[in-house]
Amino acid sequence: MKSYKIAVLPGDGIGPEVMSVACGLLDIIGDKANVQFVKEWADIGGIAIDNHGVPLPESTLKICEASDAILFGSVGGPKWESLPPEKQPERGALLPLRKHFSFYANLRPVVIHPVLSDLSPLSQSRMKNGVDMLIIRELTGDVYFAEPKGRDQDRAYDTMAYTRAEIERIARFAFEAARKRKKRLHSIDKANVLTTMVFWREIVNSIANEYPDVSVIHMYVDNAAMQFVINPGQFDVVLAGNLFGDILSDEGAALTGSLGMMPSASLNEKGFGLYEPAGGSAPDIAGKDIANPIAQILSMGMMLRFSFGMHSEAGKIEQAVMNVINKGTRTKDIANSDCQTTGTKEMGEKIAEEYLQL
Ligand code: IPM
Ligand code: MN
Repeated sequence: MKSYKIAVLPGDGIGPEVMSVACGLLDIIGDKANVQFVKEWADIGGIAIDNHGVPLPESTLKICEASDAILFGSVGGPKWESLPPEKQPERGALLPLRKHFSFYANLRPVVIHPVLSDLSPLSQSRMKNGVDMLIIRELTGDVYFAEPKGRDQDRAYDTMAYTRAEIERIARFAFEAARKRKKRLHSIDKANVLTTMVFWREIVNSIANEYPDVSVIHMYVDNAAMQFVINPGQFDVVLAGNLFGDILSDEGAALTGSLGMMPSASLNEKGFGLYEPAGGSAPDIAGKDIANPIAQILSMGMMLRFSFGMHSEAGKIEQAVMNVINKGTRTKDIANSDCQTTGTKEMGEKIAEEYLQL
């Protein structure tokens, strides 16, 4: 029997409850596919600060290193907000994890499902072509990590910088993804102002020569921010650096109006990955059995696809989720007036029932 080790890091807020639903479904999938998933649970974020004094304890890192994939919940909450920024759960856990494992490619799908289109802040006329894009954000370089960084009495600074190798690597990743989709790639930069971004554009163009079947559109980030709202249907694969990708992916998330449904994957060159919902820890609704477990479930699906090559199972997870949504079973965040609202656990059970019928 095939066996995979998974580091399960539920974190804070709604993390533990949506994680337990996703892991329950994972067991059902494993039984059906005759695959064993060995889960190692570990603390991360605020709970790790409470239990170990730091947001990313050495013991958690060890468990991640010994695993085939990391399934991440969410971190942060009011309890830890007054700590200095570098000690806070979000920054103190996520950034070092990304750097440690060189998770350079961050994938954030932005999809407006037709039955959920009334959750979107966009008017129906703006969604004519449908919205289904994949944002690919570079995750280990740029102003987030480049040196020098620092501050003195009257000045503080970060450095925007990219090496040729860093741009080539993420550009190739994005072109490969575009090839599997609509063969259209928007590369986001600010080449009208920033030298780093002139370089970015040149290198994306040089990699484009290897992919004559993919059309490349270069777009300045300010225009992209506007086009996301005006005509999001024009985008398929969107490639951006770390900072612009951070901002645009939140804008993309807002377009869907359903944060509780957005998964993400962060991958390194070896294909090792961290999978996490995009929605955050939502401390205000934690522990009430009302959070939407779908983002965590879809993140687990991305893990099956990208880390374990279980494409059929991943596809079935997506289908099961859509079937449940289409039948009108909704958690509070994605419900409308004619829907019956359901809790976190029950949502998980319904998705599992659908899955088993596929
Ligand atoms: C994200 C978050 C992080 C980032 C923060 C919490 C460090 O906003 O994953 O998008 O800026 O990358
Ligand atoms: Mn962000």
